[in-house]
Amino acid sequence: MSLNNLIDSLATNGWYVWDDFVTPEQRQAIKDCIPDIALKDARIGNKASLQGNKTIRGDQTVWLEPEMGVPITQYMDKMDTIREELNRQCYMGLRDFETHFCRYPNGAFYKKHIDNFQGQGIRKVTTVIYLNEEWQSGDGGELVVYDLQDQELFRLEPLAGRMIVFMSENFPHEVLPTQKKRESIAGWFLTEKIL
Ligand code: OGA
Ligand code: MN
Repeated sequence: MSLNNLIDSLATNGWYVWDDFVTPEQRQAIKDCIPDIALKDARIGNKASLQGNKTIRGDQTVWLEPEMGVPITQYMDKMDTIREELNRQCYMGLRDFETHFCRYPNGAFYKKHIDNFQGQGIRKVTTVIYLNEEWQSGDGGELVVYDLQDQELFRLEPLAGRMIVFMSENFPHEVLPTQKKRESIAGWFLTEKIL
């Protein structure tokens, strides 16, 4: 597993799974930067039609900022290296990265969705890193990834340290109901600069 494998697989398959992308120490350090009170119920829709809708997604999120701590900055720097390499080798034109921490309480799920419908947004590449130590089969919370014909491609357990990367427009996906607390960091490489 390496940056070159990621780039090859993203170019040919549109997705890649990178196990042990973050070490146990990094995972703990990142979690320690997340203040519990900052977590808010995730919203769907755009700003004008924001709705808190637990029938679609039941996670809580907080946007990550460099000010939250050195472990967050180090994670963002690592993602920036990937961004630059995707631009250099694949001309992806990625100009920014937005990322949030997610916590699914027991029983929560996220129904099938696409992070960016063709041409409708600025999200080009999705990344999700899992932070769940000692996850076991039966714990639920798998990520199910589909193709654009809605055929299931694969399902992935949210194992600690694992990162999945996929082209945001091409892969509908869902999070199956989790049987215990499930934590992850989702990120999106963007085609425009934000802020
Ligand atoms: C998302 C998402 C998947 C996961 O946040 O958009 O689809 O496995 N997350 O957490
Ligand atoms: Mn998604």
